[in-house]
Amino acid sequence: MKKILFVCTGNTCRSPMAQGLFLKLLNTIGRGTESERFKVQSAGLFATDGMPPSPDAVEVMLSEGIDIADHRSKQLRDNIVHEADLIVTMSAAQRDYLRDRFPEKMNCIFTINELAGESSGEVIDPYGLGREAYEASLRQIKDLLGRVIEGLLHMEEKKGKTEIAIGSDHAGFYLKKELIKTLEEENDVIDCGTYDIESADYPDIAEKVAGEVLNRGILGVLICGTGIGVTIAANKIPGIRAALCWDIFTARLAREHNNANILAVGSRVIGTDLAKEILNTFIKSTFQAGRHQRRIEKIEEIERKYRERC
Ligand code: RB5
Repeated sequence: MKKILFVCTGNTCRSPMAQGLFLKLLNTIGRGTESERFKVQSAGLFATDGMPPSPDAVEVMLSEGIDIADHRSKQLRDNIVHEADLIVTMSAAQRDYLRDRFPEKMNCIFTINELAGESSGEVIDPYGLGREAYEASLRQIKDLLGRVIEGLLHMEEKKGKTEIAIGSDHAGFYLKKELIKTLEEENDVIDCGTYDIESADYPDIAEKVAGEVLNRGILGVLICGTGIGVTIAANKIPGIRAALCWDIFTARLAREHNNANILAVGSRVIGTDLAKEILNTFIKSTFQAGRHQRRIEKIEEIERKYRERC
C-alpha cells in the first residue's frame, strides 16, 4: 500500500481538503478499487493537534459531497514523514523546509503543482480570506489532484516490479552476475557496474549505487572482495545505511533494526548460494520502527551535525 501524506501549515484547510478530495477523485478516475492501494493522511508543519477544520473548508468540501467536519489537525511528526512514500506540500517553501529537515526523504517530497506537471506555482492559503478564497483553493486542488492521480496510477501500472540497484568492483564481478540472475525474477535491476574484471575502485561503484538508492528511494546491493570497502565508502553519504552482512541473521536484522538501504557482501568471504539467501532475506525483511526509529533518527542527527561542520 502506498502511503501519501499531504502537508500544509496548520492542517485545518488545504491539506485536509486535499486528503478528502484525493480518495474521492481516486475512485472517480481509477477503476473503483484503487482506494485500497493508497493510505492518505495530512498534517501541518506548524499545526496544533486536535483543531477542527476551518468552517469555510468544511462548507466548500460539502459542496463536493465530502464531509471533513470530523477531521482534527495533526502536527507533522517525524514518524509520519518516515512512513510516507509520497509527501505532497502546498508550496515550494514547505517542500524545501521538509527536504532540509528530512534529507533522507528528499526524493519523496514534492509540491502538488510539480506532481501535476507544473514547473512552479502553489496552492494559495485561503485561511482568513473568506469563502471565495476557499472555493478557489478547492478548485485549484481538485484540478491539480486530478493530474497527480492520473500520474500515480500510470506509474503504478508501469511499475509492477520493484527497482533495485547493484554494483561491484572487479572482485565482486562474478558474484554480481549471479545475484542479478536471482534479482531479475522479481525486480527491475539497475546495474551500476563494474562490467568486466578489469580493476575497478570500489568507492566509485559505491557512490553510483548510493546515488540510485537515494534518488529513486530504492534498495541497493554492493559487492567487493570483503564487502568492507564498499560499506565504508557508501556510508560516507548522508542518508545511506549500508550494512555488511555475512549470514541470514545479520541480513534480517539489518533491515528490521537498522533500516539498512544497502546490503553489502564480500565475494571472497561467502559463497554464491549463501549470498543469494542473504539477498533474499534482506529484500523480504522490513523495518520494524518502534524503538529502532529513535536510533535511526539519532544517526540522522549525527549526519546533520557533521554536515554543518564541513
Ligand atoms: C580489491 O582487491 C579489494 O581490496 C576490494 O574488493 C575490497 O575487498 C575492499 O574492501
